[in-house]
Amino acid sequence: MTDAGVFARGKLDRGTRLLIEAVDIPEGSVVLDLGCGYGPIGIAAAVLCPTCRVYMIDVNERACGLTRRNAALNGAANVEVRCGTGFQPVKGMKFDLVLSNPPIRAGKRVLFEIIEEAAQHLKPGGRLVLVAQTKQGAKSLLRKLAEVFPTAREVEKGGGYRVMEGVAGIAGEDTTHGSAGP
Ligand SMILES: C[S@@+](CC[C@H](N)C(=O)[O-])C[C@H]1O[C@@H](n2cnc3c(N)ncnc32)[C@H](O)[C@@H]1O
Repeated sequence: MTDAGVFARGKLDRGTRLLIEAVDIPEGSVVLDLGCGYGPIGIAAAVLCPTCRVYMIDVNERACGLTRRNAALNGAANVEVRCGTGFQPVKGMKFDLVLSNPPIRAGKRVLFEIIEEAAQHLKPGGRLVLVAQTKQGAKSLLRKLAEVFPTAREVEKGGGYRVMEGVAGIAGEDTTHGSAGP
C-alpha cells in the first residue's frame, strides 16, 4: 500500500531496490530502517530474515501508518514501527545493521547528521548501508561516510544509483576517526 505524500507512491524506487538486492542480512540481526517511507526496505529485511528484529522509523505519520499496514500484509511480525525524527525514537539502542534510502531533499545537514548518529547506534562491527542517486550527491555522501567510517566503500552501483557501506570499528581496532588510537 502506498499513498499521496509518501515517497515513491505507487512504485518501488530503483535505489531502494538496488539497496535491498545488495545487502546481506545475517541471521538474528537487530536492524534499523531509517526513513522507512511505506516500508519496503525494512519489511524486505524482516521477511528475508525472520530471526531478525527490525525497527522502522519515519518522521511522516502517514508513512508510519502505511508501514504498519504493509508489515501486517506481508506477515512481518518481527517489525516495530516508531514515528519520529532521526535516531530519536531509538535513543540508546545499538544495531547490527542500519539501512537507509535517506531523505536527500532534507539537505546535507540532516544527511550528515544521520551518518554521524549512525556511528553512535551501531554495535562494534555493525554496518550502515545507504543508497543515493549518483547525480543527487552520492559521492559527497560517500566522502562523509568515509570521514566517519574510514573503511567506507561503495558496494553496488547501477541505474544511476550507488549503494555504500560503513562498518563500525571492532573493539580494540582504531577504525573510526576520533577514537583513541595509539
Ligand atoms: C528517500 S525516502 C525513502 C523511503 C523508503 N525507505 C523507500 O525506500 O521507499 C526518505 C524517507 O525519510 C523520511 N524522513 C525525512 N526526514 C527524516 C528524519 N529527519 N527522520 C526520519 N525520517 C525522515 C521521509 O519522510 C521519507 O519517507
